[in-house]
This record gives sequence, structure tokens and C-alpha cells, in this order.
Amino acid sequence: MGLIKAVIFDLDGVIVDTSNYHYLSWKKLCLELDYNLNESGNDFLKGLSREDSLLKIIDLANISLSEEKFKEYLTKKNSYYLDFINNLSQKNILPGVLSFLRYLKKKSIKISLCSSSKNAKFVLEKLDMISLFDIIVDGNDIKMGKPDPEIFLIASKKLVTEPKNCLVFEDAQSGIDAANKAGMTVVGIGNKNKLKNLKYCFPDFLKIPDHLINYFFNEER
Ligand code: BG6
Ligand code: MG
Repeated sequence: MGLIKAVIFDLDGVIVDTSNYHYLSWKKLCLELDYNLNESGNDFLKGLSREDSLLKIIDLANISLSEEKFKEYLTKKNSYYLDFINNLSQKNILPGVLSFLRYLKKKSIKISLCSSSKNAKFVLEKLDMISLFDIIVDGNDIKMGKPDPEIFLIASKKLVTEPKNCLVFEDAQSGIDAANKAGMTVVGIGNKNKLKNLKYCFPDFLKIPDHLINYFFNEER
């Protein structure tokens, strides 16, 4: 067996193309706050919990909100998001994800999901993917969102696998920072010019070279 004994996947932007729907929902909400959220503003939000995302928007837009309005906007954002993902199906699964999961199953590597989203299980159900994961840790199970390492450390405990033997796939800087802090190996999925503190980064799972897969899962150490 190789170095890696468990693989941990982020959900939005790694397994499924829902990160754009989070962006479009925040953008719609921001219009009501007279703030134009663009893609570079959205890069700060990726991977953050719903609450932390709204706090970041308050900061970017330089506005203040009462506690009541804060809660109201969180509920509104989620209802926009749920509308956007109403027709989500297996067609939204990102390239190479299912074949990579099949490879891991064959190798008896443990598989986990670590997502800040409170909708994670609902999304996986829509994709008919729940049964593929040994362990799911989501936004309902954590006190501190990414970039705090809590979510990954909970998964490592539940997987009974040391962080150094866990491999994380992440598309967001907050998630990469969290996994690094947890002492895990991270592979970025996305644009390597936009992500930092990363040794490996590929546009999607189909582009991961065979020699790296061998290094992680097959080379005896
Ligand atoms: C993360 C997304 O996976 O989940 C963030 O990258 C999102 O954009 C966060 O804000 C929380 O999601 P939810 O579904 O609980 O609002
Ligand atoms: Mg993500």
C-alpha cells in the first residue's frame, strides 16, 4: 500500500459544478445590498461557510447589517441557491470524479467528504452519490469553518487515519489552507495561477498524471 490511506473530497467545485450556483446566489443577494459582487470578490468567498461568506461581503461592500437582517439574508441566499440547484443531476458531476472514485474503491482506500455546506447531503442525494462515501463531515458538524482545520481533523479521527496519510482535493484557497494546517497532502482542482501554498494542482481529475497516482497509492514506503 502507498502513502495515502484515505482520500477526502471537498464538494462544491471538486465533485460537482455547484460553486457557480453559490456565486450566482450571492450575486443576486448582493444586488439587493447595492453591491456588485464580481468573480474576484467571489474568490474570497469560496469554501467559506454561509455565515462567514456574508461577513466577508459586509466587509467587501463596507456596509453593516442588524442581527435580524443578517439572518434574513442568510435564509434568502439559501433559498436562491436551492432554486438554482433544483434540477441538479449526475450531469453536473465534474469530469473524472466517478472513475477516480471507482479506482479508490478498488484499492480499498477510504473515501470521505469534507464540505462546509449545510446542503452537502442533499446535493449528494440528488447526484445519487451518498453511498460512495465512508464518512461525510459537513457544515452541520463543525464549529469553525475552513480555513480552520477542524473539519479535516474530525474526518481524520472518524477515518481512523493519521492526517499525514490523508489526501485532500480542494478548489478553494480556504480549503487548501485548512488541509495544510491539518497536516494533510493537498491537490488543488482548478486554476493553479489563482491558488497558492500548493504542490499539486490540476484543472480536473482527468488531468492527474498516472505517475502521481502511483506515487500516492501504489509505491511501497
Ligand atoms: C462551500 C462553498 O462548499 O459551502 C461555499 O464553497 C458555501 O461557497 C459553503 O458558502 C456553505 O454552503 P451552504 O450550502 O451551507 O450555504
Ligand atoms: Mg469547494
